[in-house]
Amino acid sequence: MAQNPTMDKLVSLCKRRGFVFQSSEIYGGLGSVWDYGPLGAELKKNVKDRWWNAMVRVRDDIEGLDAAILMHPRVWEASGHVAGFTDPLVDCKTCKARFRADQVGEAACPQKPSKHPGEHSACQLTEPRLFNLMFKTFMGPVEEQAAVVFLRPETAQGIYVNYLNVLQSSRQKIPFGIAQIGKAFRNEITPGNFIFRTREFEQMEMQFFVKPETAGEWFERWRGLRMAWHHDIGLNAGKLRWHEHSGKELAHYARAAFDIEYEFPFGWNEIEGIHNRGDFDLSRHQETSGKKLEYFDQAANSRYLPYIVETSAGADRVALTILVDAFREEQVERETRTVLGLHPSIAPIKAAVLPLVNKDGMPETATALYNDLRKRFVTFYDDGGAIGRRYRRMDEVGTPFCLTIDGQTAADRSVTVRHRDSMQQDRVSLDAVLEYVSGRLAG
Ligand code: GAP
Repeated sequence: MAQNPTMDKLVSLCKRRGFVFQSSEIYGGLGSVWDYGPLGAELKKNVKDRWWNAMVRVRDDIEGLDAAILMHPRVWEASGHVAGFTDPLVDCKTCKARFRADQVGEAACPQKPSKHPGEHSACQLTEPRLFNLMFKTFMGPVEEQAAVVFLRPETAQGIYVNYLNVLQSSRQKIPFGIAQIGKAFRNEITPGNFIFRTREFEQMEMQFFVKPETAGEWFERWRGLRMAWHHDIGLNAGKLRWHEHSGKELAHYARAAFDIEYEFPFGWNEIEGIHNRGDFDLSRHQETSGKKLEYFDQAANSRYLPYIVETSAGADRVALTILVDAFREEQVERETRTVLGLHPSIAPIKAAVLPLVNKDGMPETATALYNDLRKRFVTFYDDGGAIGRRYRRMDEVGTPFCLTIDGQTAADRSVTVRHRDSMQQDRVSLDAVLEYVSGRLAG
Protein backbone atom coordinates (compact mmCIF):
# COMPACT_ATOMS: atom_id res chain seq x y z
CA MET A 1 0.00 0.00 0.00
CA ALA A 2 1.49 3.33 1.01
CA GLN A 3 5.29 3.33 0.93
CA ASN A 4 6.41 6.59 2.45
CA PRO A 5 5.84 8.65 5.60
CA THR A 6 3.57 11.28 4.04
CA MET A 7 1.35 8.68 2.42
CA ASP A 8 1.28 6.63 5.62
CA LYS A 9 0.15 9.67 7.61
CA LEU A 10 -2.49 10.57 5.03
CA VAL A 11 -3.87 7.03 4.83
CA SER A 12 -4.10 6.91 8.61
CA LEU A 13 -5.84 10.33 8.76
CA CYS A 14 -8.28 9.19 6.06
CA LYS A 15 -9.26 6.16 8.12
CA ARG A 16 -9.32 7.87 11.52
CA ARG A 17 -11.47 10.79 10.37
CA GLY A 18 -13.77 8.87 8.03
CA PHE A 19 -12.56 9.81 4.56
CA VAL A 20 -11.63 6.37 3.16
CA PHE A 21 -11.91 2.82 4.52
CA GLN A 22 -10.65 -0.43 3.10
CA SER A 23 -13.48 -2.35 1.44
CA SER A 24 -14.74 -5.39 3.40
CA GLU A 25 -12.19 -4.63 6.11
CA ILE A 26 -13.67 -7.09 8.64
CA TYR A 27 -12.90 -9.88 6.14
CA GLY A 28 -9.32 -8.73 5.66
CA GLY A 29 -10.09 -6.28 2.85
CA LEU A 30 -10.44 -6.76 -0.91
CA GLY A 31 -7.37 -5.97 -3.01
CA SER A 32 -7.28 -2.31 -3.99
CA VAL A 33 -10.96 -1.63 -3.46
CA TRP A 34 -11.90 1.26 -1.13
CA ASP A 35 -15.01 2.73 0.45
CA TYR A 36 -15.58 6.43 1.11
CA GLY A 37 -16.67 7.33 4.65
CA PRO A 38 -18.85 10.31 5.61
CA LEU A 39 -16.21 13.00 4.95
CA GLY A 40 -14.74 11.25 1.90
CA ALA A 41 -18.17 10.94 0.30
CA GLU A 42 -18.71 14.71 0.72
CA LEU A 43 -15.24 15.55 -0.60
CA LYS A 44 -15.57 13.35 -3.68
CA LYS A 45 -19.06 14.73 -4.35
CA ASN A 46 -17.60 18.26 -4.21
CA VAL A 47 -14.91 17.27 -6.75
CA LYS A 48 -17.54 15.85 -9.10
CA ASP A 49 -19.81 18.88 -8.63
CA ARG A 50 -17.00 21.28 -9.51
CA TRP A 51 -16.23 19.24 -12.63
CA TRP A 52 -19.90 19.00 -13.65
CA ASN A 53 -20.42 22.74 -13.12
CA ALA A 54 -17.35 23.66 -15.16
CA MET A 55 -18.07 21.19 -17.96
CA VAL A 56 -21.88 21.13 -18.22
CA ARG A 57 -23.71 23.78 -16.22
CA VAL A 58 -21.84 26.90 -17.28
CA ARG A 59 -21.41 25.87 -20.93
CA ASP A 60 -23.99 25.95 -23.73
CA ASP A 61 -22.03 23.50 -25.88
CA ILE A 62 -21.80 20.47 -23.53
CA GLU A 63 -24.65 18.16 -22.50
CA GLY A 64 -24.67 15.70 -19.62
CA LEU A 65 -25.28 11.95 -19.85
CA ASP A 66 -25.57 9.04 -17.43
CA ALA A 67 -25.16 5.83 -19.45
CA ALA A 68 -25.41 2.30 -18.01
CA ILE A 69 -22.32 0.42 -16.86
CA LEU A 70 -23.37 -2.74 -18.74
CA MET A 71 -23.32 -2.40 -22.52
CA HIS A 72 -23.81 -4.71 -25.50
CA PRO A 73 -20.67 -6.90 -25.69
CA ARG A 74 -20.10 -5.86 -29.30
CA VAL A 75 -19.39 -2.33 -28.07
CA TRP A 76 -16.15 -3.66 -26.61
CA GLU A 77 -15.24 -5.51 -29.81
CA ALA A 78 -15.76 -2.31 -31.80
CA SER A 79 -13.87 -0.17 -29.30
CA GLY A 80 -10.82 -2.44 -29.52
CA HIS A 81 -10.94 -3.38 -25.82
CA VAL A 82 -11.59 -7.11 -26.36
CA ALA A 83 -8.53 -7.43 -28.59
CA GLY A 84 -6.30 -4.71 -27.27
CA PHE A 85 -7.01 -3.68 -23.66
CA THR A 86 -4.27 -5.89 -22.29
CA ASP A 87 -1.22 -5.67 -20.08
CA PRO A 88 1.74 -8.06 -20.23
CA LEU A 89 1.76 -10.23 -17.10
CA VAL A 90 4.61 -12.21 -15.53
CA ASP A 91 4.37 -14.62 -12.59
CA CYS A 92 7.09 -15.55 -10.14
CA LYS A 93 6.98 -19.33 -9.67
CA THR A 94 8.86 -19.04 -6.37
CA CYS A 95 6.77 -16.49 -4.44
CA LYS A 96 3.58 -16.72 -6.61
CA ALA A 97 3.46 -12.91 -7.00
CA ARG A 98 2.30 -11.29 -10.26
CA PHE A 99 3.75 -8.23 -11.95
CA ARG A 100 3.17 -6.12 -15.04
CA ALA A 101 6.10 -7.02 -17.27
CA ASP A 102 6.57 -3.36 -18.24
CA GLN A 103 6.61 -2.24 -14.57
CA VAL A 104 8.92 -4.85 -13.07
CA GLY A 105 11.56 -2.16 -12.64
CA GLU A 106 9.21 -0.20 -10.34
CA ALA A 107 8.05 -3.21 -8.26
CA ALA A 108 9.76 -4.75 -5.22
CA CYS A 109 10.55 -8.46 -4.97
CA PRO A 110 8.22 -9.78 -2.20
CA GLN A 111 11.05 -11.99 -0.86
CA LYS A 112 13.73 -9.33 -0.96
CA PRO A 113 12.13 -5.87 -1.16
CA SER A 114 15.49 -4.17 -1.75
CA LYS A 115 15.56 -5.85 -5.20
CA HIS A 116 13.24 -5.78 -8.19
CA PRO A 117 11.42 -8.97 -9.26
CA GLY A 118 13.84 -11.14 -11.24
CA GLU A 119 16.97 -9.71 -9.57
CA HIS A 120 16.88 -11.92 -6.47
CA SER A 121 18.55 -15.31 -7.06
CA ALA A 122 15.42 -17.18 -5.93
CA CYS A 123 13.10 -15.42 -8.44
CA GLN A 124 11.73 -17.52 -11.28
CA LEU A 125 9.82 -15.22 -13.64
CA THR A 126 7.65 -16.69 -16.41
CA GLU A 127 7.59 -15.31 -19.96
CA PRO A 128 5.13 -12.37 -20.28
CA ARG A 129 1.60 -13.25 -21.41
CA LEU A 130 -1.16 -10.82 -22.36
CA PHE A 131 -3.91 -10.32 -19.81
CA ASN A 132 -7.19 -8.52 -20.61
CA LEU A 133 -8.09 -5.94 -17.97
CA MET A 134 -11.87 -6.07 -18.44
CA PHE A 135 -13.99 -7.68 -15.74
CA LYS A 136 -16.51 -10.16 -17.14
CA THR A 137 -19.84 -11.34 -15.83
CA PHE A 138 -22.90 -13.14 -17.24
CA MET A 139 -26.26 -11.71 -18.16
CA GLY A 140 -29.23 -13.97 -17.40
CA PRO A 141 -29.29 -17.30 -15.59
CA VAL A 142 -26.95 -19.33 -17.80
CA GLU A 143 -23.20 -18.89 -17.49
CA GLU A 144 -22.21 -19.45 -21.12
CA GLN A 145 -20.04 -17.61 -23.64
CA ALA A 146 -23.07 -16.06 -25.36
CA ALA A 147 -24.15 -14.46 -22.05
CA VAL A 148 -20.83 -12.71 -21.31
CA VAL A 149 -21.04 -9.00 -20.59
CA PHE A 150 -18.27 -6.69 -19.40
CA LEU A 151 -18.08 -4.08 -16.67
CA ARG A 152 -17.07 -0.97 -18.63
CA PRO A 153 -13.36 -0.12 -18.40
CA GLU A 154 -14.05 3.51 -19.45
CA THR A 155 -17.22 5.61 -19.52
CA ALA A 156 -16.42 7.04 -22.97
CA GLN A 157 -18.13 4.30 -25.00
CA GLY A 158 -21.53 5.08 -23.44
CA ILE A 159 -21.13 8.56 -24.90
CA TYR A 160 -20.14 7.42 -28.42
CA VAL A 161 -23.08 5.05 -28.85
CA ASN A 162 -25.47 7.79 -27.65
CA TYR A 163 -23.97 10.70 -29.53
CA LEU A 164 -26.71 10.94 -32.18
CA ASN A 165 -29.44 10.57 -29.53
CA VAL A 166 -27.99 13.47 -27.55
CA LEU A 167 -27.31 15.57 -30.64
CA GLN A 168 -30.89 15.21 -31.91
CA SER A 169 -32.70 15.50 -28.57
CA SER A 170 -30.77 18.57 -27.44
CA ARG A 171 -30.64 20.28 -30.87
CA GLN A 172 -26.89 20.79 -30.58
CA LYS A 173 -24.63 21.42 -33.55
CA ILE A 174 -20.99 20.51 -34.00
CA PRO A 175 -18.78 21.53 -32.25
CA PHE A 176 -20.39 20.21 -29.07
CA GLY A 177 -19.58 17.86 -26.21
CA ILE A 178 -21.10 15.20 -23.97
CA ALA A 179 -19.94 14.81 -20.37
CA GLN A 180 -20.45 11.94 -18.00
CA ILE A 181 -19.36 10.88 -14.52
CA GLY A 182 -19.51 7.20 -13.66
CA LYS A 183 -17.91 4.02 -12.43
CA ALA A 184 -15.32 2.14 -14.46
CA PHE A 185 -13.64 -1.17 -13.66
CA ARG A 186 -10.21 -2.52 -14.56
CA ASN A 187 -8.67 -5.75 -13.33
CA GLU A 188 -5.33 -3.99 -12.80
CA ILE A 189 -2.35 -6.31 -12.23
CA THR A 190 -0.49 -3.88 -10.02
CA PRO A 191 -2.96 -1.53 -8.39
CA GLY A 192 -1.84 0.47 -5.40
CA ASN A 193 -0.79 3.70 -3.75
CA PHE A 194 -4.03 3.89 -1.80
CA ILE A 195 -6.84 5.23 -4.05
CA PHE A 196 -4.44 6.16 -6.88
CA ARG A 197 -4.85 2.94 -8.90
CA THR A 198 -7.81 0.79 -7.96
CA ARG A 199 -9.90 -1.88 -9.63
CA GLU A 200 -13.17 0.02 -9.26
CA PHE A 201 -13.05 3.79 -9.75
CA GLU A 202 -15.00 6.75 -11.07
CA GLN A 203 -14.19 8.67 -14.21
CA MET A 204 -15.18 12.21 -15.21
CA GLU A 205 -15.04 12.13 -19.01
CA MET A 206 -16.02 14.58 -21.70
CA GLN A 207 -16.05 13.84 -25.42
CA PHE A 208 -16.02 16.88 -27.71
CA PHE A 209 -17.25 16.27 -31.29
CA VAL A 210 -15.61 18.51 -33.88
CA LYS A 211 -15.05 19.00 -37.62
CA PRO A 212 -11.97 16.89 -38.47
CA GLU A 213 -9.90 19.85 -39.66
CA THR A 214 -10.46 21.70 -36.35
CA ALA A 215 -9.44 18.81 -34.03
CA GLY A 216 -5.89 20.11 -33.46
CA GLU A 217 -7.15 23.54 -32.45
CA TRP A 218 -9.79 22.09 -30.07
CA PHE A 219 -7.20 19.73 -28.58
CA GLU A 220 -5.04 22.72 -27.61
CA ARG A 221 -8.03 24.63 -26.28
CA TRP A 222 -9.11 21.71 -24.05
CA ARG A 223 -5.58 21.22 -22.78
CA GLY A 224 -5.58 24.82 -21.55
CA LEU A 225 -9.05 24.60 -20.01
CA ARG A 226 -8.33 21.38 -18.16
CA MET A 227 -5.04 22.57 -16.66
CA ALA A 228 -6.81 25.77 -15.55
CA TRP A 229 -9.49 23.68 -13.79
CA HIS A 230 -6.86 21.89 -11.69
CA HIS A 231 -5.47 25.29 -10.68
CA ASP A 232 -9.00 26.52 -9.87
CA ILE A 233 -9.73 23.68 -7.46
CA GLY A 234 -6.69 24.81 -5.50
CA LEU A 235 -3.88 22.44 -6.58
CA ASN A 236 -0.35 23.81 -6.30
CA ALA A 237 0.57 24.82 -9.89
CA GLY A 238 4.25 24.00 -9.23
CA LYS A 239 3.33 20.35 -8.73
CA LEU A 240 1.49 20.01 -12.03
CA ARG A 241 3.10 19.39 -15.41
CA TRP A 242 2.40 18.03 -18.90
CA HIS A 243 3.56 14.70 -20.24
CA GLU A 244 3.21 14.13 -23.99
CA HIS A 245 2.72 10.53 -25.09
CA SER A 246 5.32 9.29 -27.51
CA GLY A 247 4.25 7.06 -30.41
CA LYS A 248 4.66 3.83 -28.51
CA GLU A 249 2.84 5.11 -25.40
CA LEU A 250 -0.27 6.13 -27.35
CA ALA A 251 -3.44 4.10 -26.61
CA HIS A 252 -4.88 2.18 -29.55
CA TYR A 253 -7.51 4.89 -30.17
CA ALA A 254 -5.32 8.01 -29.83
CA ARG A 255 -3.64 10.21 -32.47
CA ALA A 256 -2.20 12.51 -29.82
CA ALA A 257 -2.30 12.48 -26.04
CA PHE A 258 -1.09 14.65 -23.19
CA ASP A 259 -1.35 13.72 -19.52
CA ILE A 260 -1.63 16.20 -16.70
CA GLU A 261 0.74 14.85 -14.07
CA TYR A 262 1.03 15.65 -10.36
CA GLU A 263 4.10 15.21 -8.19
CA PHE A 264 2.88 12.71 -5.59
CA PRO A 265 5.07 11.58 -2.67
CA PHE A 266 5.58 8.42 -4.77
CA GLY A 267 6.62 10.36 -7.89
CA TRP A 268 5.12 12.15 -10.90
CA ASN A 269 1.95 10.42 -12.09
CA GLU A 270 -0.99 10.98 -14.42
CA ILE A 271 -4.20 12.45 -13.04
CA GLU A 272 -5.96 13.32 -16.32
CA GLY A 273 -5.53 12.53 -20.02
CA ILE A 274 -6.45 14.76 -22.96
CA HIS A 275 -6.73 12.72 -26.17
CA ASN A 276 -7.31 13.39 -29.84
CA ARG A 277 -9.19 10.19 -30.70
CA GLY A 278 -9.77 11.18 -34.35
CA ASP A 279 -12.72 9.25 -35.85
CA PHE A 280 -11.45 5.93 -34.49
CA ASP A 281 -14.42 5.25 -32.19
CA LEU A 282 -17.25 6.46 -34.39
CA SER A 283 -15.92 4.70 -37.48
CA ARG A 284 -15.49 1.43 -35.55
CA HIS A 285 -19.03 1.66 -34.13
CA GLN A 286 -20.44 2.57 -37.53
CA GLU A 287 -18.73 -0.42 -39.10
CA THR A 288 -19.61 -2.91 -36.33
CA SER A 289 -23.24 -1.83 -35.78
CA GLY A 290 -24.00 -1.15 -39.44
CA LYS A 291 -25.70 2.14 -38.38
CA LYS A 292 -24.68 5.43 -39.99
CA LEU A 293 -23.13 7.73 -37.38
CA GLU A 294 -22.30 10.64 -39.68
CA TYR A 295 -23.16 14.20 -38.81
CA PHE A 296 -25.16 16.21 -41.33
CA ASP A 297 -23.83 19.75 -41.60
CA GLN A 298 -26.84 21.72 -42.84
CA ALA A 299 -24.96 24.91 -43.65
CA ALA A 300 -22.42 23.11 -45.84
CA ASN A 301 -24.92 20.45 -46.99
CA SER A 302 -22.36 17.72 -46.30
CA ARG A 303 -21.95 14.65 -44.09
CA TYR A 304 -18.91 13.59 -42.14
CA LEU A 305 -17.79 11.54 -39.15
CA PRO A 306 -16.73 13.99 -36.44
CA TYR A 307 -13.36 13.76 -34.72
CA ILE A 308 -13.35 13.49 -30.95
CA VAL A 309 -11.25 15.36 -28.41
CA GLU A 310 -11.54 13.64 -25.05
CA THR A 311 -10.76 14.88 -21.55
CA SER A 312 -10.63 12.03 -19.03
CA ALA A 313 -9.95 12.39 -15.31
CA GLY A 314 -10.40 9.97 -12.42
CA ALA A 315 -12.59 11.34 -9.59
CA ASP A 316 -10.79 9.17 -7.02
CA ARG A 317 -7.39 10.14 -8.35
CA VAL A 318 -8.27 13.84 -8.28
CA ALA A 319 -9.59 13.38 -4.72
CA LEU A 320 -6.29 11.77 -3.71
CA THR A 321 -4.34 14.56 -5.41
CA ILE A 322 -6.34 17.17 -3.50
CA LEU A 323 -5.73 15.39 -0.18
CA VAL A 324 -2.00 15.00 -0.81
CA ASP A 325 -1.70 18.62 -1.94
CA ALA A 326 -3.67 19.94 1.06
CA PHE A 327 -2.00 17.87 3.79
CA ARG A 328 0.50 19.69 5.99
CA GLU A 329 1.91 19.62 9.51
CA GLU A 330 2.90 22.82 11.30
CA GLN A 331 4.45 23.61 14.64
CA VAL A 332 2.15 25.88 16.68
CA GLU A 333 3.02 26.68 20.27
CA ARG A 334 5.28 23.61 20.46
CA GLU A 335 2.48 21.33 19.22
CA THR A 336 2.05 19.78 15.82
CA ARG A 337 -1.00 21.09 14.02
CA THR A 338 -2.25 18.87 11.16
CA VAL A 339 -4.11 20.83 8.51
CA LEU A 340 -5.90 19.95 5.30
CA GLY A 341 -5.66 23.25 3.45
CA LEU A 342 -8.58 22.36 1.16
CA HIS A 343 -10.19 24.87 -1.19
CA PRO A 344 -13.45 25.87 0.60
CA SER A 345 -15.54 24.54 -2.31
CA ILE A 346 -13.94 21.08 -1.87
CA ALA A 347 -13.86 20.93 1.95
CA PRO A 348 -16.35 18.34 3.24
CA ILE A 349 -17.43 20.53 6.18
CA LYS A 350 -17.71 24.24 5.41
CA ALA A 351 -18.25 25.61 8.90
CA ALA A 352 -18.26 24.42 12.50
CA VAL A 353 -20.40 25.99 15.22
CA LEU A 354 -18.58 25.89 18.55
CA PRO A 355 -20.39 27.21 21.66
CA LEU A 356 -17.87 28.20 24.29
CA VAL A 357 -19.72 28.06 27.59
CA ASN A 358 -23.04 26.65 28.58
CA LYS A 359 -24.86 29.71 29.94
CA ASP A 360 -26.96 32.79 29.17
CA GLY A 361 -28.94 31.20 26.32
CA MET A 362 -25.76 30.46 24.40
CA PRO A 363 -26.58 26.84 23.52
CA GLU A 364 -29.89 28.03 22.04
CA THR A 365 -28.11 30.73 20.02
CA ALA A 366 -25.57 28.17 18.79
CA THR A 367 -28.23 25.59 17.86
CA ALA A 368 -30.28 28.22 16.03
CA LEU A 369 -27.20 29.29 14.04
CA TYR A 370 -26.31 25.66 13.29
CA ASN A 371 -29.84 24.90 12.04
CA ASP A 372 -29.75 28.01 9.86
CA LEU A 373 -26.39 27.29 8.28
CA ARG A 374 -26.89 23.57 7.64
CA LYS A 375 -29.75 24.35 5.24
CA ARG A 376 -27.23 26.05 2.96
CA PHE A 377 -23.99 24.06 3.40
CA VAL A 378 -22.49 21.21 5.45
CA THR A 379 -22.10 22.48 9.02
CA PHE A 380 -20.78 20.65 12.08
CA TYR A 381 -21.76 21.27 15.69
CA ASP A 382 -19.24 20.54 18.43
CA ASP A 383 -19.65 21.51 22.06
CA GLY A 384 -17.20 18.98 23.53
CA GLY A 385 -13.80 19.72 25.05
CA ALA A 386 -11.33 22.60 25.05
CA ILE A 387 -11.76 25.11 22.22
CA GLY A 388 -8.16 24.57 21.05
CA ARG A 389 -8.83 20.86 20.57
CA ARG A 390 -12.07 21.56 18.75
CA TYR A 391 -10.19 23.88 16.35
CA ARG A 392 -7.54 21.18 15.76
CA ARG A 393 -10.18 18.58 14.96
CA MET A 394 -11.64 20.90 12.33
CA ASP A 395 -8.19 21.86 10.93
CA GLU A 396 -7.40 18.19 10.41
CA VAL A 397 -10.44 17.66 8.17
CA GLY A 398 -10.03 20.96 6.33
CA THR A 399 -13.00 22.96 7.70
CA PRO A 400 -12.30 26.53 6.54
CA PHE A 401 -14.41 28.40 9.13
CA CYS A 402 -15.01 27.87 12.85
CA LEU A 403 -17.74 30.02 14.39
CA THR A 404 -17.37 30.51 18.12
CA ILE A 405 -20.30 31.58 20.27
CA ASP A 406 -18.83 33.20 23.35
CA GLY A 407 -19.59 35.60 26.23
CA GLN A 408 -19.74 38.57 23.86
CA THR A 409 -22.38 36.93 21.62
CA ALA A 410 -25.17 37.48 24.16
CA ALA A 411 -24.10 41.11 24.58
CA ASP A 412 -23.74 42.23 20.98
CA ARG A 413 -25.09 39.34 18.79
CA SER A 414 -21.74 38.73 17.13
CA VAL A 415 -19.62 35.57 16.70
CA THR A 416 -15.93 34.93 16.22
CA VAL A 417 -15.02 33.57 12.78
CA ARG A 418 -11.74 31.72 13.03
CA HIS A 419 -9.93 31.06 9.74
CA ARG A 420 -8.30 27.65 9.29
CA ASP A 421 -5.13 28.65 7.44
CA SER A 422 -4.14 31.91 9.13
CA MET A 423 -5.86 31.07 12.47
CA GLN A 424 -6.90 34.74 12.49
CA GLN A 425 -10.19 35.70 14.03
CA ASP A 426 -12.81 38.19 12.85
CA ARG A 427 -15.86 39.40 14.66
CA VAL A 428 -19.01 39.09 12.52
CA SER A 429 -22.63 39.89 13.36
CA LEU A 430 -24.82 36.80 13.91
CA ASP A 431 -27.20 38.02 11.23
CA ALA A 432 -24.43 38.38 8.66
CA VAL A 433 -22.52 35.17 9.29
CA LEU A 434 -24.44 33.01 6.80
CA GLU A 435 -23.67 35.39 3.95
CA TYR A 436 -20.09 35.84 5.22
CA VAL A 437 -19.38 32.11 4.95
CA SER A 438 -21.43 31.46 1.78
CA GLY A 439 -19.63 34.25 -0.02
CA ARG A 440 -16.31 32.54 0.62
CA LEU A 441 -17.29 29.04 -0.55
CA ALA A 442 -17.71 29.61 -4.27
CA GLY A 443 -15.46 27.73 -6.68
N1 GAP B 1 -11.35 7.11 -21.87
C1 GAP B 1 -9.94 7.27 -21.78
C2 GAP B 1 -9.34 6.66 -20.62
O1 GAP B 1 -10.00 5.92 -19.89
P1 GAP B 1 -7.11 6.48 -19.25
O2 GAP B 1 -5.87 7.28 -19.39
O3 GAP B 1 -7.02 5.00 -19.33
O4 GAP B 1 -8.07 7.03 -20.41
C3 GAP B 1 -8.22 8.24 -17.70
O5 GAP B 1 -7.86 6.89 -17.92
C4 GAP B 1 -8.14 8.59 -16.23
O6 GAP B 1 -8.89 7.64 -15.45
C5 GAP B 1 -6.73 8.53 -15.66
O7 GAP B 1 -6.03 9.74 -15.89
C6 GAP B 1 -7.01 8.33 -14.18
O8 GAP B 1 -7.28 9.57 -13.55
C7 GAP B 1 -8.26 7.47 -14.19
N2 GAP B 1 -7.89 6.05 -14.01
C8 GAP B 1 -7.54 5.16 -14.96
N3 GAP B 1 -7.30 3.95 -14.42
C9 GAP B 1 -7.51 4.08 -13.09
C10 GAP B 1 -7.43 3.18 -11.99
N4 GAP B 1 -7.11 1.89 -12.13
N5 GAP B 1 -7.69 3.66 -10.75
C11 GAP B 1 -8.06 4.96 -10.56
N6 GAP B 1 -8.16 5.84 -11.57
C12 GAP B 1 -7.90 5.41 -12.82
